[in-house]
Amino acid sequence: VASSELELGGIKIAKDDVVRDDPTNNVPDTIFSKMGMQLHRRNNHPLGILKNGIYEYFDSNYPNLFDKFDDLCPIVSVKQNFDDVLVPADHVSRSYNDTYYVDSKTVLRCHTSAHQAELLRRGHTHFLVTGDVYRRDSIDSTHYPVFHQMEGVRVFTPDNWEASGLDPTSYAAEDLKKSLEGLARHLFGAVEMRWIDAYFPFTNTSYELEIYFKEKWMEVLGCGVMEQEILKSNGRSDSVAWAFGLGLERLAMVLFDIPDIRLFWTNDERFTSQFSEGQMGVKFKPFSKYPPCYKDMSFWINESFTENNLCEVVRGIAGDLVEEVSLIDNFTNKKGLTSHCYRVAYRSMERSLTDEEINDLQWNVREQVQKKLNVVLR
Ligand code: PHE
Repeated sequence: VASSELELGGIKIAKDDVVRDDPTNNVPDTIFSKMGMQLHRRNNHPLGILKNGIYEYFDSNYPNLFDKFDDLCPIVSVKQNFDDVLVPADHVSRSYNDTYYVDSKTVLRCHTSAHQAELLRRGHTHFLVTGDVYRRDSIDSTHYPVFHQMEGVRVFTPDNWEASGLDPTSYAAEDLKKSLEGLARHLFGAVEMRWIDAYFPFTNTSYELEIYFKEKWMEVLGCGVMEQEILKSNGRSDSVAWAFGLGLERLAMVLFDIPDIRLFWTNDERFTSQFSEGQMGVKFKPFSKYPPCYKDMSFWINESFTENNLCEVVRGIAGDLVEEVSLIDNFTNKKGLTSHCYRVAYRSMERSLTDEEINDLQWNVREQVQKKLNVVLR
């Protein structure tokens, strides 16, 4: 049961202030109930263990240099989340389909980059920000609407690069690559790595770091040289900086062999008891999986239909009992009507579900999908 008040970064927040019946609000109850969990602040949870492991890398290579923040409030302004980091006005990430809005000017942060500008303004030049981030998304074993990121920023002043003979941007880019290759080795050991050109509104040039792990190239993080405009707007026009952002779940799933992203949220002792403080990369031993149950449903969609909205409805009813929602058939008839067939996989990680329970859920889902999404069931 979700409590109706939360304490976030020392601020008390009432559920009614976040979850409202208001057209500019799209935060469901299920999301509010995740906001106070602070998984990344539990030292014996895989996300906390990973956070501490990354801290350890920065502390041993840059003693006393990086300031750490892990309880900044996830409710931020549109300005902090988007404008301050130069996200274009028409960027998809700003849409109600992708982001949770508390009201037209306030969102649940969709990345920890939302804190770059304010921390620069407060005078910090080296910092790590860890926190829960929120994105409306589809449902499968690696996607969950709440996950955790760590942001890192390092600012340089002219005396740093002048001695090097490099121009400021190249100097920052070289330092960035060296630091993050070191981090990847700290976490993954001696792995092959490569740098891929990328795009982020807040960095230029931008890169993704990939490592070769279990016979596959895997993205580890996004990063780049901070856009000069961000430094300039926040009192650092004389400086250059680098920034990176990484998803803790992605990395923890690989490092600890965790097969399903929902497991991070379980209180089942068969999961939680397998991890302890400082034990980085201990392999998770799966406990017996209960059987899944699949239910298909077909409907004619309309122009405003999106898969994210469908997943929100399903999750609102089935919560963590839904493992995956996948499109299995899609066609358009002669009259131009488009039909989608979705398969919903129900599975509990803690117990076996009864037929009756699943049928109830599915009936509820069908009813709500029809009502809330204005589609016509077939
Ligand atoms: N904010 C980016 C994301 O969420 C990651 C990032 C952070 C990229 C900082 C570059 C610099 O995908």
